[in-house]
Amino acid sequence: MNYTDALNLMHEYTKSEALRKHMYAVEVAMRAYARKYGEPEELWAIVGVLHDFDYEKFPTIPEHPTKGSEILKEKGYTEDIRSAILGHASYTSVQRDTLMAKVLYACDELCGFISAVAIIRPNKITDLEISSVKKKLKDKAFAKNVSREDINLGIKELDVSLDDHIMFVIEAMKANRERLGL
Ligand SMILES: [Fe+2]
Ligand SMILES: [Fe+2]
Repeated sequence: MNYTDALNLMHEYTKSEALRKHMYAVEVAMRAYARKYGEPEELWAIVGVLHDFDYEKFPTIPEHPTKGSEILKEKGYTEDIRSAILGHASYTSVQRDTLMAKVLYACDELCGFISAVAIIRPNKITDLEISSVKKKLKDKAFAKNVSREDINLGIKELDVSLDDHIMFVIEAMKANRERLGL
């Protein structure tokens, strides 16, 4: 399984451009963290680009991501990939016991949140600063479906500061802003 196979599988299951872009965003954050930690970038990119691939077809709990994980198993995706993906949904009770799983969890909700903040700005992500993201995080009414608890637990598990994590993910997304529509 290579990245192109994973991308094609995601496109086969996901027609929504917004949902595709969310997975691209998590992919680019995963790639950046893989490089930072000296981990295999393609493997981490596969996890990022596939993590919600089943969501459009199976949006309910716990079908997403359980159903997707079964499909990935049939297609020969390895255990490390599947357990990281299962671990991004806390209700599966699958432990995030690898660095890859922890990074996926830490990036998922934050990528969604940063996209939500950036998309409504005149210059989108190009001049987005940490302070704007943090201000919006405190605004409970803004992007209220994004779990602040998940974001806080993610940084705790990854043992990074909120500022550093936000900055790192902004930079990763900014470097790919055209692909992300930002
Ligand atoms: Fe998900
Ligand atoms: Fe996601």
